[in-house]
Amino acid sequence: MTESNVLQNFGLDAIDMSDVYSPEYTAHIEQIRHEAALVLARIAMKHVFADGEAVHDPQLAAPEGVTARQPFFFRKRLIEYLDDRGELHREGNLYRPTDELVQRASAREEDYFGTAAQSPTLRALKSIESIAGGILEGKDGLVLLEERLGAEETWRIWQYLMVDAPPKKACNSLVARTLDQRLRAGVPTVVFEGGAGLGATLREAVQIDGFRERTRNIELYGFTDISRPLMQRAREMLQEKAPEMLGSTCFDRIDLDQLDDYDDVPYLQDAAADLVIFESVLHDVENLHQVLTSCHRILKPGGWLVFTVGSRHRPGLFFPCELLQTTLHSYHRAELDPPRRTNVGYLSLEEWTASLHDAGFPSLRVFPDAQHREKWPYGGIVASRPE
Ligand SMILES: C[S@@+](CC[C@H](N)C(=O)[O-])C[C@H]1O[C@@H](n2cnc3c(N)ncnc32)[C@H](O)[C@@H]1O
Repeated sequence: MTESNVLQNFGLDAIDMSDVYSPEYTAHIEQIRHEAALVLARIAMKHVFADGEAVHDPQLAAPEGVTARQPFFFRKRLIEYLDDRGELHREGNLYRPTDELVQRASAREEDYFGTAAQSPTLRALKSIESIAGGILEGKDGLVLLEERLGAEETWRIWQYLMVDAPPKKACNSLVARTLDQRLRAGVPTVVFEGGAGLGATLREAVQIDGFRERTRNIELYGFTDISRPLMQRAREMLQEKAPEMLGSTCFDRIDLDQLDDYDDVPYLQDAAADLVIFESVLHDVENLHQVLTSCHRILKPGGWLVFTVGSRHRPGLFFPCELLQTTLHSYHRAELDPPRRTNVGYLSLEEWTASLHDAGFPSLRVFPDAQHREKWPYGGIVASRPE
């Protein structure tokens, strides 16, 4: 059997996520939307509608620069979230809260939830609520959280929302299963993971039956991020959870916006990698077209690019899914590139499809299926470089 036959037998079609997108998973997403509706009502009434009304122009062009964009988009997306839910009265560019919104903002939590129990997500949402004033002044959310809660608690919240929160299961599982699927071909495999942070991909992968044995097929795993402290935490995690991988893993500081500059990093050379992984990071880059074009260059023919997404769609459903990100300066770096990329932060599926197509990835699998993107906003895309 040739290598490409082997890979076909263990191909993209075999990646299955049907057990992840379950009724239980749907309930987690709905619970977060329900919790966010309370917290976002309070933020809006305290910081945007304190005078009973607010002016907003949905067509206003976004400013340049992350410090100006971040408060602009936090306010814009909050107002458009409420408007899409039918919770604002509008006359021209003047918006006023409905009575329901005013009442919800002042509801007692026990009455709203029918219980006094606090979920970890609600606690995280309330931390964001506690810094909303500073966010609307243009301060970075992580800096504000560290000032208010201290570094340890901030990183606990970060790890919870980025890695452990139940909605993230779809993202983590997709990248982990794609990695595992590629290793099942049984041939030496070179992997480049960008923005690998705390290691959500490998944390999930080591839980797959037989993954540990299949790691012997990893010739080289480039575990990379722009932040060395995050990678330090990931190295400790790998030491504890998958020490057998340490021999084939390189921890390198790589900036995704400079991928063509690393002429001494083996897994970033032309046709060097079998698999490129980006877990919750690709929307953060400045020049998406350039990054995708570099991935095409780095991948071997038949190689796979897998990345996770939040699929932008109706603001009334989507804003809770990007709330933490919208507090961060780093979420607002994108150079817009219409008609490929028209949104700052998370992209829509249409933007992803156009961007991938123009970078040389004509065929892809989208998880979940596009028709479910409102119900299940988190998932990802696997694209393959044509043979
Ligand atoms: C939302 S977190 C992703 C979570 C990550 N996969 C994990 O398991 O922790 C985004 C990560 O991308 C990194 N990042 C952001 N911009 C980057 C860039 N231009 N190049 C490389 N890494 C970047 C951040 O440092 C962070 O670790």
